[in-house]
Amino acid sequence: MTRLRVNGQSFPVAADPARRLSDLLREDLGLRGIKVGCDAGDCGACTVLLDGAPVCACLTPMAQAEGHEIRTVEGLRGAALDALQTAFLRHGAAQCGICTPGMLMAATALLSEVPEPTEDQAREALGGVLCRCTGYGRIIAAVCDAGRALAGPRPAAGQAVGAAIERLDGVPKVDGTEVFGADHWPQDALVVRAVRSPHFAARFGFGDLDAWSGARGVQVFTAADLPGENRFGVIPPFADQPALAEREVRLRGEAVAIVVGEAGVMAALDLVDFPVDWEEIEPVMNPDTALGARPVQAGRADNVLIRGRVVQGDAAAGLAGAAHVAEVEARTSFVEHAYIEPEAGVAWLEGDILAIQACTQAPVMDRDGVAKVLGLAPEKVRIIPSAAGGGFGSKLDLSLQPLIGLAALKTGRPCRMVYSRSESMQSTTKRHPAHMRARIGADAQGRICGMEFDGTFDTGAYASWGPTVANRVPVHASGPYRTPNYRAETVAMHTNGPVAGAFRGFGVPQAAVAQEVAYDDLAEALGMDRLAFRRLNALEEGEASVCGQVMRGVGIGACLDALRPRWRAAQADAAEFNAAHSGVKRGIGVASCWYGCGNTALPNPSTVRAGITREGGLRLHQGATDIGQGANTVIAQIFADALGAAVEDIALIGPDTALTPDCGKTSASRQTVVTGKAALLAGQALRAQILARTNRAAEARIGLGPGKVVVTDAQGCAEIALADLPEAGHGYVLMAEETYDPPTVALDGNGQGAPYAVYGYGAHLAEVEVDLALGTVKVARITAAHDLGRVVNPLLARGQIEGGIAQGLGMALMEEYVPGRTENLHDYLIPTTGDMPEVEAIFIEVPDPEGPMGAKGLGEHVLIPTAPAILNAIRDASGVRITHIPALPHRVRAAIREAGR
Ligand code: FES
Ligand code: FES
Repeated sequence: MTRLRVNGQSFPVAADPARRLSDLLREDLGLRGIKVGCDAGDCGACTVLLDGAPVCACLTPMAQAEGHEIRTVEGLRGAALDALQTAFLRHGAAQCGICTPGMLMAATALLSEVPEPTEDQAREALGGVLCRCTGYGRIIAAVCDAGRALAGPRPAAGQAVGAAIERLDGVPKVDGTEVFGADHWPQDALVVRAVRSPHFAARFGFGDLDAWSGARGVQVFTAADLPGENRFGVIPPFADQPALAEREVRLRGEAVAIVVGEAGVMAALDLVDFPVDWEEIEPVMNPDTALGARPVQAGRADNVLIRGRVVQGDAAAGLAGAAHVAEVEARTSFVEHAYIEPEAGVAWLEGDILAIQACTQAPVMDRDGVAKVLGLAPEKVRIIPSAAGGGFGSKLDLSLQPLIGLAALKTGRPCRMVYSRSESMQSTTKRHPAHMRARIGADAQGRICGMEFDGTFDTGAYASWGPTVANRVPVHASGPYRTPNYRAETVAMHTNGPVAGAFRGFGVPQAAVAQEVAYDDLAEALGMDRLAFRRLNALEEGEASVCGQVMRGVGIGACLDALRPRWRAAQADAAEFNAAHSGVKRGIGVASCWYGCGNTALPNPSTVRAGITREGGLRLHQGATDIGQGANTVIAQIFADALGAAVEDIALIGPDTALTPDCGKTSASRQTVVTGKAALLAGQALRAQILARTNRAAEARIGLGPGKVVVTDAQGCAEIALADLPEAGHGYVLMAEETYDPPTVALDGNGQGAPYAVYGYGAHLAEVEVDLALGTVKVARITAAHDLGRVVNPLLARGQIEGGIAQGLGMALMEEYVPGRTENLHDYLIPTTGDMPEVEAIFIEVPDPEGPMGAKGLGEHVLIPTAPAILNAIRDASGVRITHIPALPHRVRAAIREAGR
């Protein structure tokens, strides 16, 4: 044994000099505020201070820490949060919160040297810590503002919507007590690891599993041990993915077996000699040629998962009559979600109930999927979502849940599992690569008169969200523009690539690249200002979409108008810059977005329950998973105002399939709109009960006290004595439960109907500098105007915009997941503090008649225009049109050389 000094105390620890400090601190000392995102020094999530200097604990062997003072996030907080932690809350610097401990430690080191740092100093000090949610802007602001006073007062009852209140669930994110998937396990938990395919496609067979496992004191389970139907999928008619492969693997990283054992045994276990024999099969890797290739799945002979289509008017005739036609062929790449938290969770038995606590975006879908695979009734599975350290769509799909569930059922012991970074990247979903062709025509006055779009989307080995992408893209490929003659067709093709699923935008960000690049072609051909050309064609209130839906609450025109002042200034800035520079050129670009919130023409309900206890406690059962976007806060704000109570009176009961009604999945920018509307209805229903009992006016104020509800209006106060009331259900004496399902109209064979009840809009203006010799691109500034209908929380909305822009910038310039080559965070690059531009967020409020208090969704909209705006700015700067993203320096340089510049 030896001793380590941590947070001012001395601890005895086992003397293993090579052990990772992160592992020792988390596992032996229980300091789980230290996060592990990569175990390779790439993400900085494990940053701690060693004698005041930041180090990656995952790269620090225990021997190097001995004799030094170690400080972790748990050591920041005294009786109260320290000034930096409160600044993080005040500025909305923690979204999912998984990077926050590392950020706080790196910032603490900086502030000890430089109490009032500049933004550049903060940017540099935090450069080694990755954040996938925030875009860093709020974090930098918090660090530079750490010396200032504390938060302002909370809004009064009835005035929560529109107030920039701090996240209601923020404190655990900054004091290190937030429980992510890897942070909780019962004392006697076994550890689960998966055996995965090193091949893209192979048949396999096992050797002597009993001999192998017996010699090592572990247990092995394969598909043969799964008691249910070994097929899961987010869209039940397309469910095709085995929890453990049977005889054949269809993607690199697919699991074929799990190994379960005591933690100490599993830590030392080497899986390289696991008895499995592989027979490689020639993989199908190119979606463009997959049609005639070997079937990836036996049931889909032509490798076509699904086709999507929207047709309105006569596109060919519209194009034939156009004065100008632009043609674009565009390609995008696999994009990795790169959340800092790899998949993790634990399963245990509660009597005959299988409980699973893991990171997820979709607890009820997880419950049903696990139940099916494990042969259980859904009510025999309980899903308790842990905090999710980022999701962005990928944590909608099952990953480890059936594996730890199987292990717990078979062993009767709690079983936990944490994916390594590489197995997370290999085995979970990606953004669909797209190969798109678009032809768009405009008349001599600049009005769009026809468009054709064809897109092939690589959906990988299994269906996942391929059908959603194939159906959503044709609805959105026109952009938010009046397009009278339109044909958009898509196909999702199976390959042996990674499973492509949901990633912020469901294919719409890819389609926007083709459409917005073509719009710049047309503006140039017409000799029109590019912003004015878009404004001329922007959808207006009451006009029909390409699906024939009459649009209400249309805010795209207002978004484009809001960009105009900066557009003019940016043009002048670029002209001045370019006059002074020859090797580096500045350019500006613009692009728009629209996005329908929720499922495409499918049922999409959320149910919210609220109740008041006999003691006077107000509880909101809010089952929408908050993966950092702020649902816990925004939905509580809407509910509070609907009820007329103060937001701090609300106790949140978070998602848990045993405790909260189904609020659906956190996807498709639906939670503010759908669960928010259910919360609005629940608040109104509870308020109506209270006013009816007291016979008070509609505008009365509602307050809560010990054992009573107090209602105040012009007549004075009236009280409801809660002790006198009978139980109304679920242990409450006053209770309301409301369901909202957005009204949509099914699409016909030509995609005509009303696919979404609510749409949001936005437009981005990008200012970039291109080094003509190197092909490098620096984004200097993004001005982002977004129509939210009603801004429920400006602090959180701004964070969403900045975070979306960071992901859009990554997609545009650096992110390209290559299976087998970029399965870690040093080969797969995401934006760091140094890559982020100055961001100006402009909120537009064109109320939606259906959205709660006029609100629209925002989460996915925010990255859609970023990449095409950047591409259009690169073209403005360099004269070359880039249509293959990411626009890596070699691609930009090659295009410049080809253009003879
Ligand atoms: S976990 Fe240590 S740097 Fe990523
Ligand atoms: S808040 Fe930084 S990774 Fe989520």
